[in-house]
Amino acid sequence: MHVILGANGNTGHVVAKTLLARGQKVRAVGRNATHLQPLAANGAEIFIADVTDASALTKAFHQADSAYVMLPPNPTSNDFRAFQDRASDAIAAAIQKAGVKNIVSLSSFGADKSSGTGPVVGLHNLEQKLNQIDAANVLHLRAGYFMENTLAQAGAIRMMGSAIGPVRPDLKLPMIDTHDIGAAAADALLRLAFRGKQTQELHGQRDLNYTEVTTIIGTAIGKPNLPYIQAPDDQLRAAMVQMGMSDNFVGLILEMAGALNSGHMRALEPRGPGNTTPTPFETFVAQSFVPAYQQQAAA
Ligand SMILES: NC(=O)c1ccc[n+]([C@@H]2O[C@H](COP(=O)([O-])OP(=O)(O)OC[C@H]3O[C@@H](n4cnc5c(N)ncnc54)[C@H](OP(=O)(O)O)[C@@H]3O)[C@@H](O)[C@H]2O)c1
Repeated sequence: MHVILGANGNTGHVVAKTLLARGQKVRAVGRNATHLQPLAANGAEIFIADVTDASALTKAFHQADSAYVMLPPNPTSNDFRAFQDRASDAIAAAIQKAGVKNIVSLSSFGADKSSGTGPVVGLHNLEQKLNQIDAANVLHLRAGYFMENTLAQAGAIRMMGSAIGPVRPDLKLPMIDTHDIGAAAADALLRLAFRGKQTQELHGQRDLNYTEVTTIIGTAIGKPNLPYIQAPDDQLRAAMVQMGMSDNFVGLILEMAGALNSGHMRALEPRGPGNTTPTPFETFVAQSFVPAYQQQAAA
């Protein structure tokens, strides 16, 4: 049986659905039973647990052969890194106690660094803690920059008439659709070909910079000359806090952007068939960005 954390989330629901479609037993873990009903309807066992609760997670992992583990984001937390560390402590302790043999973890490019990468430091720590579990085979999927991060631009474009962010306009990023991450994780859990402790980067379909991203978005929403503006941190901090993120979380996001701009945080593997995934940014924009942008217009 496979246990899936964050089973209602961007990546977790794809992992769970893919495994169920292949006739596998799945225990779907989340905080909200209603959110997990679609997976229950597809045959998953539902388990309610908070990722910071080691004893609930130990029960969630009971009799599991394998698990997909991830740290859910908590962007309103006033101490985001402490939340991440509580969650990774609980996950690692529960895996150890329950004796789960095969783990696929959701990590990030940049998780090789122990500091200076904002929220990615929490994923570095998750990797380290899972690597200390001698009896488990662990595959850390170091995903690229989520295409979903660009959804925040829908509001910026409406309000400012431009895309805006902290990242350099010419900085190429390995941009990935979260469906492709879920599919890669499900594939790893089906094949169970990893041994010991391994990392694998996932780079998405191709590298793109924010100038290119903005042109693709602009073309899709009928604004072919849409500009991208790299704004100063102070301006972005105020806007992001106004959107509901904690000042602490915004500080970490800006630290990560600085690490991307300086090259401190970067992909380490050369791009190749093993880390390239199928979904182009144009497909993400058509299927997710444009509907989100139109919904905002309607609201
Ligand atoms: N953004 C990027 O560019 C990027 C790149 C690489 C890696 N990452 C990492 O990817 C991860 C996010 O993955 P994702 O997008 O698949 O996650 P997600 O969709 O944001 O969240 C997963 C699910 O976790 C559940 N959840 C939230 N808080 C919880 C808690 N305290 N206990 C138990 N469950 C909880 C939520 O469902 P319920 O509300 O139903 O419980 C949520 O649907 C993060 O660790 C992030 O650092 C991000």
